[in-house]
Amino acid sequence: MPKHQTQRNISATTMLLNADRNLSDEISVSPPLHQSLQGIARDADHFRDLASAPLNDQFYSRYGNQTSSRLAKVIADMEGGEAGIMFSSGMGATSTTLLALTKGGDHIVAQKNHYMGTTEMVTNVLPKYGVEFTTVDQTSVATFEQAIRPNTKLILLETPVNPLLHLTDLGAISDLAKSKGIKTFCDNTFATPINQRPMEFGVDIVMHSATKYIGGHHDLLAGNITSSQEIIEKIWDMSLNTGAICAPFNSWLALRGIRTLELRVRQQNASAQAIAEFVDAHPAVGRVYFPGLKTHPQHELANKQMSGFGGLLTFDLKGGYDAGIAFIKNLEFVQNAASLGGVFTVAVQPAVMFGGRLSADVVEEQGISPGLIRFATGIENTEDLIADIDQALARI
Ligand SMILES: Cc1ncc(COP(=O)(O)O)c(C=O)c1O
Repeated sequence: MPKHQTQRNISATTMLLNADRNLSDEISVSPPLHQSLQGIARDADHFRDLASAPLNDQFYSRYGNQTSSRLAKVIADMEGGEAGIMFSSGMGATSTTLLALTKGGDHIVAQKNHYMGTTEMVTNVLPKYGVEFTTVDQTSVATFEQAIRPNTKLILLETPVNPLLHLTDLGAISDLAKSKGIKTFCDNTFATPINQRPMEFGVDIVMHSATKYIGGHHDLLAGNITSSQEIIEKIWDMSLNTGAICAPFNSWLALRGIRTLELRVRQQNASAQAIAEFVDAHPAVGRVYFPGLKTHPQHELANKQMSGFGGLLTFDLKGGYDAGIAFIKNLEFVQNAASLGGVFTVAVQPAVMFGGRLSADVVEEQGISPGLIRFATGIENTEDLIADIDQALARI
């Protein structure tokens, strides 16, 4: 049995409800929304305490908010971390963390493929402040090792990665980093803590765009960082300056969303697996990228570090760019929208989506072929989704 497949896996929802219940006001079944900007100090000593305590959620909302800290605690319990902070977006979380943990003269190792904003932070923004970087092929542990320098402070990971679902070996990279005193940071957005918990493999910092699966209903923007108390306090300190803090209402919506995370992810996993197998056998479809397929080059690693393969798959239409445009147009209830991880299934053609922001060279380097389709399942009936894909492929 893979080392992470413990009873935590089966009882994720129970675990999070218990975690949440421990924070509960005794009289409310569902968590209250604390919208108040600030708390009231009883006297000068209390004021001093409120203003100086790290992660205090009762002083002033930029320092912390009770609804947001409640959500961060629930996510930290699911991920197996000591503490966490909610941010205004996934990028608010990533940028604040990078600013908190690096300074001029430091070096970061990152993957060649990350969420676009993460790549831009590492390759365009931080170098302006003297932070160096090397990007590597995430599928090769050796390339990480070769990239490490004496001034390397952080290794950035993201697995599975958008859009081709490459994986990174969390255990091997964490061991390597630890042996050199380097911290690891993993974007766990696509896997969710239901399918993968990087800290169980030794990763130091876990990040989520809670906008996706944790929120889960296409109606909020939020980010999360989970780590040790010590690291979270450092990031909190920087968050006072970046100010990219989650609005309490968004945290409240995400607390509602996270209660059904396990149910949603189970359905999303099952649909993605069935769709991957369906399109894999379809004559109009070329290569299919999904870690749950035996043909995925890292299927064995997926089995080792994931307990579910996720709701995201990509496939290449043999008819190329025009076939992609027609396929997306032909879909009857699957929606053409960028953000994923919610209750509704969405499909995009990455050559169209990334083409607007990335140069043609970068699009090609990332393996984004013209007919590639990225498909992210929602919680609809699996047969309905397959029927929609089937008719859309037939009318290309
Ligand atoms: C994997 C991943 N990480 C980070 C982000 C950034 O999150 P946000 O849009 O909440 O800032 C995204 C957004 O698409 C994402 O897909």
